[in-house]
Amino acid sequence: MSVLEVCDLHVQVGDKLILRGVDLRLEKGKIHALMGPNGSGKSTLALALAGHPEYRIIQGEVFLDGQDLLPLPPNERAKAGLFVAFQYPPEVEGVKLREFLRLACAARGHGFCEFQKHFSQALSRLRLEDFRDRELNVGFSGGEKKRAELLQLYLLRPKVALLDEPDSGVDVDALRLIAEVIAEMAASGTAVLLISHYPRLLDLLPVEKVYVLFDGRITEEGGPELAQRIEEEGFEVVRR
Ligand SMILES: Nc1ncnc2c1ncn2[C@@H]1O[C@H](COP(=O)(O)OP(=O)(O)OP(=O)(O)O)[C@@H](O)[C@H]1O
Ligand SMILES: [Mg+2]
Repeated sequence: MSVLEVCDLHVQVGDKLILRGVDLRLEKGKIHALMGPNGSGKSTLALALAGHPEYRIIQGEVFLDGQDLLPLPPNERAKAGLFVAFQYPPEVEGVKLREFLRLACAARGHGFCEFQKHFSQALSRLRLEDFRDRELNVGFSGGEKKRAELLQLYLLRPKVALLDEPDSGVDVDALRLIAEVIAEMAASGTAVLLISHYPRLLDLLPVEKVYVLFDGRITEEGGPELAQRIEEEGFEVVRR
């Protein structure tokens, strides 16, 4: 059974209809990729599923492990096991990385001692040892922000992870590290949706399925070879 099922999703921002009937299924422990041209609605999908109030779902259904996700507020969606790594992680002044993650882990039922142990281990896994007491994302470089998003994923161990361009702006070593962490998360059972423009990251991972979003709809599904075809020929090959 799919962990996340998205059926006929229509999403509007202001008076503009952006997603116009998205169908998507994410399987436990598998890595799925979502590609699509700039402005096709990839981030809109992630933000609408997270429950961002500006991204209004006007039609469609979403089930997480069989539970209807849409009546839930964003924090309850996260508690139910949905995680979103943002394309543009926000800077949150006055909130330390450690405190933010301590509270997030407590909300997911992790005890304090368990958190202390896992937090130190996660910081070293993501090479963020010096960021323990930094304010969340404040002054982080682009690549550091991406690693901080992955740190949250690593600690929270969600059922479903929507990762919006975790590879944008990261150097080659960080890219390899990010790929390793994503593969570890999938191996431990998380269903992953990887939003990316580049096969570079996809090449480092056992991607099962590639979805292409075009103009607010999934217009093509395939295996990893689809990502390669898009890289070589552009999105015209999947225009319908
Ligand atoms: N808050 C908003 N207000 C107005 N328009 C928006 C808003 N958010 C998204 N849009 C519009 O919705 C469309 C889809 O945007 P989205 O960010 O989802 O694209 P994307 O596929 O993630 O693109 P990229 O590859 O550049 O990240 C774009 O035309 C964008 O301008
Ligand atoms: Mg985007």
